[in-house]
This record gives sequence, structure tokens and C-alpha cells, in this order.
Amino acid sequence: MAPVSVFRVALLVSFSVFLTVVLGFGLPALLNAAMTMLGLPETSVTECIVLLYLVFVLCVATPRIPRGLVEVKGKAVFITGCDSGFGHALAKHLHKLGFTVFAGCLLKDKGGEGAKELEEFHSDRMKVVQLDVCSEEQVNQAAQYIKDNLEDSERGLWAVVNNASVSMFGEVEFTSMDSYKQVSEVNLWGTIRITKAVLPLIRRAKGRVVNVASMYGRIGNVLRSPYCVSKYGVEAFSDCLRYEMKAWGVKVSIIEPGNFIAATSILTRDSVASMANKLWNEAPSNVKEDYGKAHFERHMALMRSYCSCGHKDVAPVMDDITDAIMSRRPYTRYNPMEPHWWIRMQLVTHLPGAISDLLYF
Ligand SMILES: NC(=O)c1ccc[n+]([C@@H]2O[C@H](COP(=O)([O-])OP(=O)(O)OC[C@H]3O[C@@H](n4cnc5c(N)ncnc54)[C@H](OP(=O)(O)O)[C@@H]3O)[C@@H](O)[C@H]2O)c1
Repeated sequence: MAPVSVFRVALLVSFSVFLTVVLGFGLPALLNAAMTMLGLPETSVTECIVLLYLVFVLCVATPRIPRGLVEVKGKAVFITGCDSGFGHALAKHLHKLGFTVFAGCLLKDKGGEGAKELEEFHSDRMKVVQLDVCSEEQVNQAAQYIKDNLEDSERGLWAVVNNASVSMFGEVEFTSMDSYKQVSEVNLWGTIRITKAVLPLIRRAKGRVVNVASMYGRIGNVLRSPYCVSKYGVEAFSDCLRYEMKAWGVKVSIIEPGNFIAATSILTRDSVASMANKLWNEAPSNVKEDYGKAHFERHMALMRSYCSCGHKDVAPVMDDITDAIMSRRPYTRYNPMEPHWWIRMQLVTHLPGAISDLLYF
């Protein structure tokens, strides 16, 4: 990651001081006004600080308040993209918890390692399905297979986890229209295609739709427009679906992981290097000239650096997806990410753009 500039640090510190002053002086006045209106005695600064601290503790502690779990026995879950990464780990994890798992693998028919490993469970509760989420035919076949192989088709399918994805990067002028379409074909249209195919079964179970988006479904970044466009779409689709599904008793959750690149196969230093070569070779000559090789290399080095930092363990994502599937009251959004990304996401989504742009770009 690029070092934080002195200017940026100064800006962050000034912003914190500003917040402290506003809260320190403004909050007591606000509370006192509320107390007066309610005919209660005035509050002190100490009481305000205690109140703020209480709110903070409640925010931090709330996710830990038990919300009850659903019974696992007889429930089935369908996961896409189980060849590697989160999907592969989740298939094993949910199987261990007692779920029947329909694991969609892109490379099952081609003897992919991930699919083989899951097939070697030789378990009635681990069913590996050939699945390219871009193929209408394969999606319909998978949905039919699930329907035919549910323990009790009347009870329906408890959950679908839309996890399959590809990642591409590059500045807008270096990214071809085909690349934009390719990424959204898997990440966005694939999610919608799968959801539509199994929604009747999910509705029957009053079950769960869990869509794996990304922090890049909430915030943008340089070089990430093909991926961000697809993940913002997943967020929009999930929100609309959640409103519609409320009447059916189906809960829709979005998982927004931060950087887990080092823990999965989504990007590797090798894949970054070959995508970088392709980007440069296929870029229009005027774009190469205007941006220059040095600028391009600097950005590619930034992409490579993402491959070795961030979380190295998928456990936080597994815990959140499991909660979305098993909790009686799942959250709408889960944010398994490092604190600095979480703070960035809050600032970018809550502050005026003019301020957050200054902080981060
Ligand atoms: N890792 C992170 O840092 C991170 C951060 C935020 C969000 N996410 C999201 O987390 C989810 C899982 O990603 P991951 O990190 O576990 O990456 P991953 O290891 O690459 O897993 C994605 C899986 O999707 C499969 N896939 C690709 N195209 C497909 C298609 N057309 N049909 C069906 N399956 C397809 C891939 O198969 P192949 O390997 O054979 O291509 C791969 O097994 C994705 O939605 C991703 O966007 C990941």
C-alpha cells in the first residue's frame, strides 16, 4: 500500500479534533434541550460522555447478543463458485455443521481439483453440481437437480449463497467494454440468474438468500471500476429483493468482505501480472502515450501489493455467512474486513463526497 501522506494524516487528525469538539460541546447542549423538553434535570458533560460510551459499547456488543439459531437438520444450502476460495471452504464448513450442501463447481466436468475434493467426501449430504452461472442451461439443470434431490421438496431449499465471481482491474481507459461485460456476466447477471432459478424453492422454505458482494459494492476505488460496477449492482439487486421478499418471510443478506485476496484465488501476483500485460498490450496507443508506462507500472505495483496484505484466514467470512444462514434474525449487511477499511467505508458512505475525496484520493 502507498504510504499515507503528511497532508492526509493532518486532515484525518483535524477531522477527529473537529468531531471531538462538536460532540463535546454540541451534545451536552442537545441533550439539555431534550431534557428540558421532557421536564428532566439538566445533564453534565460527564453524563454525555457516559452516554456516548454506552452507545459505542452497545454498537460493538450488539452483534454478540445471541439472536437464536435455526434447526439445521433436514436443511439444504446451494452455494455457487465452490471450486476454490470462500465457496469451497463454506461447502466444507456447512457440511460439517450438518447441512445438505449443493456445491456448484465451474470445473466439475473438467475434473477440477476443488470439485474432486468435495466429491471425495462420499457423503449423501455433499452433492457436487456442474455450474457455470453464465449458462442459462446449466443453471436450470442445477435448479432441477436440487429440486429432485431435496430430502423433502415440499420444505424447499433453505438457502442459496451467490458466491461465484471473477475479478478484473484497470483504469477506465485501459479497460475494454468486453472486460466490463465479462465481470458483470458472472458477478451480477450470474447472481440474478441463480436467484431467479431457485427463488420458488427458497420461498417455500421461507429461507435465505445470501449474496457475497464486497466492500467494493459500497465504495469505489481507482483501478477497480469493472469489479465495483458488478458489486454495486449486486447490492442494488439484494436491496430490492429484500423489500420484495419480506412478504414471503425470506431474508436477504449481503456479505461485504474487505481484502481477503491472500486467502483465496481471486487474484494472485501471477494473475495480476498477466492481466497487467494484457491491459498494456491492448490499450489504445494514445492512452498509453498520455498515461505513460511509469504511471501504469505504479498502479500495477499497487494491485500486486493487495495480493500479499489483508486477511490470510477466511474464518471471518465463514462466520458471517453462517450467521446469515443460521441466525433467526440475520443482519442485512455483514462487513468482515480490517478496521481501516471499515472506517474508510463509513467515512466514504456517510461524509459529503468533497470531504471523503480529500481524505482518500
Ligand atoms: N477474496 C477477497 O478479497 C474478496 C473480497 C471481497 C469480496 N469477495 C467475493 O467473495 C466471493 C468469493 O471469492 P473468492 O475470493 O473466494 O475467489 P475465488 O477463490 O476465485 O472463488 C470464486 C469462485 O467462483 C468461480 N467462478 C468463476 N466464474 C464462474 C462462473 N462463470 N460460474 C461459476 N463459478 C465461477 C471460480 O472458479 P475458477 O477458480 O475456476 O475461476 C472460483 O472457484 C466472490 O463473490 C468475490 O467477489 C472476495
